[in-house]
Amino acid sequence: MKNVLVTGGLGFIGSHTCVELLELGFELTVIDNLSNTREEVKNQIEEISGKSVNFINLDLTDYKRLESFFSTNKIDAIVHFAASKAVGESVEKPLLYYENNLVSLLNLLKMCKEYDVNRFVFSSSCTVYGQPDTLPVTEAFPKQEAESPYGNTKQIGEEIIEDFCKSNLSFKAISLRYFNPTGAHESALIGELPLGIPSNLVPFITQTAAGIREQLSVFGGDYNTADGTCIRDYIHVVDLAKAHIAALEYSHKMEESYDFFNIGTGKGHSVLDVIKSFEKVSGLSLNYQIVDRRPGDIEKIYADTTKVSKVLDWKAQYDLDDMMRTAWEWQKKLMQR
Ligand code: UD1
Repeated sequence: MKNVLVTGGLGFIGSHTCVELLELGFELTVIDNLSNTREEVKNQIEEISGKSVNFINLDLTDYKRLESFFSTNKIDAIVHFAASKAVGESVEKPLLYYENNLVSLLNLLKMCKEYDVNRFVFSSSCTVYGQPDTLPVTEAFPKQEAESPYGNTKQIGEEIIEDFCKSNLSFKAISLRYFNPTGAHESALIGELPLGIPSNLVPFITQTAAGIREQLSVFGGDYNTADGTCIRDYIHVVDLAKAHIAALEYSHKMEESYDFFNIGTGKGHSVLDVIKSFEKVSGLSLNYQIVDRRPGDIEKIYADTTKVSKVLDWKAQYDLDDMMRTAWEWQKKLMQR
């Protein structure tokens, strides 16, 4: 497996995965439409890895241009990140989300069939579980009705891939159900680049500490958890990136044509745990206030990682303090630019 196509490869998780792939000697082609990132991320990936990246600015919904790419490039495997991911925006613009996320996927799968690409790794999300009845959540838990069009595109995406696998037995696909990705590369050259006001917790924390936001609102202090705030399984983006390599390697050994894995640490942390960890590693005191619950938030979720550690031989190495430390280093570096 030589030439890996990384769609959305200049985004947050995509860029970290490119670095890991390059360090292992894979050749890369990145397709990104730059809708939620900047082209300079390509240079940062090249600076960290010392290797060059073949980058094409292309929208995967553009079937003609995609076909012209595949007709002139031999691709051995695809890691597919490119997707719109803002939950709130997806509620306001559902058709945009279905089009961006699902037409892209359909186009890529058509290319796989036409050009004989038989390895595929898909970015899915723990959102497919909704609020599970018991924790930790295993892959065997049933999927629940999606809370948002964004979440639905992940569920439908998984189903489309699974059906495609059933009719193409040489095609091997793996969905990775990410829990809450955060942190940044140790070099602080790549990290999360939220456009506008961040909706996710950690970028909001680092921007508040940096003085870009005045105060962090903690959404809900009356949940049925030890400190009253929601619990999530935060996972360092470099660990997450490495899970994609493990998935690609496994795709050569797997007997079934489709499989799916939880990618988390297996540990649940509350919002206040995250804030405390940030304050500890940064030495700063964060301006925050507990406010009303955010509609649509689930109370608690964290992963059972038995299957992924056994089958993919993958385990998270970074802890919460590492995530906060690297996210803060990245934020500080961003402000120097
Ligand atoms: C959401 C999506 C998930 C997606 C992920 C990353 C849902 C149900 N989940 O996860 O599918 O993969 O984003 O894009 O939509 N919080 C605050 N204050 C803030 C921001 C967040 O208190 O300003 C709290 C939230 O209430 C939550 C936790 O922090 O308890 C994490 O929130 P967030 O980072 O937005 O991720 P999720 O909602 O878990």
